[in-house]
Amino acid sequence: MDATYLQRFLSDSARTATRSEIRELLKVIARPEIISLAGGLPSPETFPADDLAEIVPGVLREHTAAAMQYGPTEGDQELKEQIIRMMIDFEGEAFAELTPDHLLITSASQQALDLCSRIFIGTYDSVVVGLPSYLGALGAFTACGAKLSGVPIDDDGMCTDLLEQRLVDLRREGVHPKLIYAVPDFGNPSGVTMSLTRREELLCIAREFDLLVIEDSPYRQLRYVGETLPTLGSLDRDGRVVSIFTFSKILFPGLRLGWVVANPEVISHLVVAKQPVDCCTAGLSQVVAREYMKTGKLPAQIERTRKIYASKREVMLEALEEKMDPSWGVNWTRPEGGLFLWVELPRWMSARKLLERALAEEKVAFVVGDAFHCDRSGKNTLRLNFSYPSEERLRAAVAGLARCIEREIDERASGEEATTGETESAPALLVNGEHALVQLSWNLALSEVVE
Ligand SMILES: Cc1ncc(COP(=O)(O)O)c(C=O)c1O
Repeated sequence: MDATYLQRFLSDSARTATRSEIRELLKVIARPEIISLAGGLPSPETFPADDLAEIVPGVLREHTAAAMQYGPTEGDQELKEQIIRMMIDFEGEAFAELTPDHLLITSASQQALDLCSRIFIGTYDSVVVGLPSYLGALGAFTACGAKLSGVPIDDDGMCTDLLEQRLVDLRREGVHPKLIYAVPDFGNPSGVTMSLTRREELLCIAREFDLLVIEDSPYRQLRYVGETLPTLGSLDRDGRVVSIFTFSKILFPGLRLGWVVANPEVISHLVVAKQPVDCCTAGLSQVVAREYMKTGKLPAQIERTRKIYASKREVMLEALEEKMDPSWGVNWTRPEGGLFLWVELPRWMSARKLLERALAEEKVAFVVGDAFHCDRSGKNTLRLNFSYPSEERLRAAVAGLARCIEREIDERASGEEATTGETESAPALLVNGEHALVQLSWNLALSEVVE
């Protein structure tokens, strides 16, 4: 059956999810000589391989049925209990009332986003997201037919005044969004942490406009500076927050294990949605995680991971400080945790054009910022990852990036064609629309495009 003939059998979403020229870009990025700040991969040096090598034989011998048999869709009861204990240790009394009924174990947070989309979003339902937002969430929402409405994010997280104004405007148009999606701790891609005031305001607005809130917090335990702020879920008084967490960044993403904390009514709907998707989360992963947690080694593992990333973050910030001339008008976030920082170029400069130059002239890759904007704005922005490359390669990549920016500025000054980030026509990479961008995110985030 050839590709054209196959089209008639495809669903609408599969038919429109075509590949794009972005694939060509990815082939280039995958070359070993490229230093990639594009992916979002944890560093393999953080993986607790030796500890797990000690545990796995015992898991197979002593917990054979739990590890190898089908299990409950809700997740392994003992794992849930371990997670609750961990959350109380980490978060304090705010989680003291948590019970296993408030938890669903998922195949990591991406599945939780997909399940939330399935139970809350129907075609043309409106969802409010940050500008910028995690692409995997935008993909999950749009796959269920959501119409996305973007609200800007500044140094304190989602701008709640603009959020309120947007909701008033939408209401006037007869549109009542169902959800707000937020990554309050060290957002991907922005690296920004939502302030306590903004967290409280966001919840007030959610109450006033009767919206649910999805709090996606995969990086929460990876804080390098400053004080931990309460989760949106712990500030919530009326059960409208669904919080999503994962082991991907504190243990390893190959485990594919995460958990949702929500009102038991919501959990029960998520369980029903999960049953036809995968019956249950992988038993082997669940038992390995639970037995590992029982050894008491997880806090030290998180601490070790934090130290590695804190040092890489410092290296990247120092390199930016050293290499980016203040007169260029380039700004970047100083993330308190997580894996990314966000760069704003001068308004006239196109991040997409800069990427072409960086790949060709300096062999450096990054993700262009407009990919994370549901309204296609942010053409002068980009995301840099600091968790994966070695410190040496981080320094080299930032130096290469700075040379490219300087060349762009020099060319403009000498009268050559300006690249005009904000005013250029839609780049070829966007011709396939939403799905091309989602495809890009998946590949950039999940393929081995790093180093
Ligand atoms: C904000 C955010 N949510 C969800 C995910 C998905 O992670 P996982 O499915 O591995 O838990 C990521 C991955 O990088 C992310 O950055």
